[in-house]
Amino acid sequence: MGPRSPVTTGKVELEDVQGIVRSGYGTLPEAVFLILTIADPASAKAWLASAPVTNAAFQKQIPSALHVALTSGGLRRIGLSEEALASFPAEFKSGMSGDESRTRRLGDLGPSAPQSWTWGGPENAPVDVVAMLYAEAGALVDWRRLVETPSFFAGFHLVRELRTGLMDGREPFGFADGLSQPSIDWIRDTRSQENDEYHYRDRIAAGEMVLGYTNEYGLVTDRPFVPEQADPHGVLRAFVGDDRRDLGANGSYLVIRQLEQDVTGFWQFLESVGGSRQAAEQLAEKMVGRARSGTPLAAVESKASTVHEPSNDFDFDGDPDGITCPLGAHIRRANPRNADIPGGTQSRLSGLLRQLGLPRPLPRTDVIASARFHRILRRGRKYDPSQETGDMSGGLYFVCLNANIARQFEFIQNAWLESSKFGGLSSESDPIVGSRVPLLDGSRTDSFTCQTNGAPNRIESLPSFVTVRGGAYFFLPGLRALQYLAALP
Ligand code: HEM
Repeated sequence: MGPRSPVTTGKVELEDVQGIVRSGYGTLPEAVFLILTIADPASAKAWLASAPVTNAAFQKQIPSALHVALTSGGLRRIGLSEEALASFPAEFKSGMSGDESRTRRLGDLGPSAPQSWTWGGPENAPVDVVAMLYAEAGALVDWRRLVETPSFFAGFHLVRELRTGLMDGREPFGFADGLSQPSIDWIRDTRSQENDEYHYRDRIAAGEMVLGYTNEYGLVTDRPFVPEQADPHGVLRAFVGDDRRDLGANGSYLVIRQLEQDVTGFWQFLESVGGSRQAAEQLAEKMVGRARSGTPLAAVESKASTVHEPSNDFDFDGDPDGITCPLGAHIRRANPRNADIPGGTQSRLSGLLRQLGLPRPLPRTDVIASARFHRILRRGRKYDPSQETGDMSGGLYFVCLNANIARQFEFIQNAWLESSKFGGLSSESDPIVGSRVPLLDGSRTDSFTCQTNGAPNRIESLPSFVTVRGGAYFFLPGLRALQYLAALP
């Protein structure tokens, strides 16, 4: 049996999973992410062995939390063997900025090119480790003092200190954020593993976020391992049926991107196009797909105005032509909320027509892959401009978790957000985060269309409002795996 074979049944081992997979710590308003390189591997490992990393088994509100994750460079630096490193996926090994074709696919071009990043670029400020600290109001300084022991200072060099802004549930453009999240089947109730091909649902298998469990394909996602002899004390769980040890079990992959937002430029542009503040507000809502308050445009329409609050209980089946929520709106691109056979509840018909070899009623939807294989858990926090850190504009530290970076984060970023072919649209990319850089053949990607019952309202020459300033891919080990790494010779 290979690494795809199931190893556990029963509930997810929450005590071995880092708590950030279970919670975004909305009740801990202060946070700082320390971007580090390893200065002295022995001291770094001594710190890792004793760091008070928070697990996911908490029952009630906790006053503080700490999470630790490593890049492939960081794993190599603390002595993980090349054989073990080779078992990690290609995108993790090369890193977010490590290969030109990936850079293009992610849209990290022009002003967002990794060469100008302040951290995580290929030549500038590489990253080994991130330590993420969260605390109750006023408690972060003390928490940090506790975490930063002498072995921390001896082990690491601080590359960047990512200070997050006040948590108020709004991203810098002013929209309610962090609303839609997949709901994870922690208890691994078999019902949720039955694949419903016809309806979109929010519940996803634990293996979509945590390594070592069954995913939405009914398989265990590939995960890193070490040979049995490299784990003489049996710290790691064994694979079923062979002699490898599971380094990935209860771990996840963490993506961090520093996304600077041009808030002034955003609102100035929309006012110049709309002609008034009110028109600018309406256009911004269309671009996001939700009102500022979080009310989804699609839900208000489909539930006959009964929904006036942030909600996730909606899909786009009732709005196939994008009249209520534009086809290219950020939330519609980031999660099209479709089922396995495109077209949502119309899919039975669509599936039947396909079987009969007849043309489908909505060929547009066929280019959108099933949403349940491309979900991410978002854990982002905003940041403010600061003279001290050199960030002249604020923005979002986009943070997400997933079990397969290529199939989840990179797919969303590339095939849905950056793609100028999404949903039958052309010459446009995501109106919020799109890079707007022309394609290799020179085609433009800087329009945004609001579909209407008459002629579509098309906005041309949309500037780019978001610039990438840094980023990296990390492995977020389970707690046993962290102890294993801390004890590497
Ligand atoms: C500065 C950049 C960004 C801003 C301002 C932004 C803003 C927002 C807002 C306002 C929402 C709606 C509220 C919510 O459901 O939380 C949202 C949803 C979402 N965003 Fe972004 N976002 C940004 C970047 C990204 C990136 C880079 C990705 C992924 C690669 C992403 C993926 C998502 C997803 C998956 C949703 C939920 C969609 C749904 O399930 O309805 N966002 N974003």
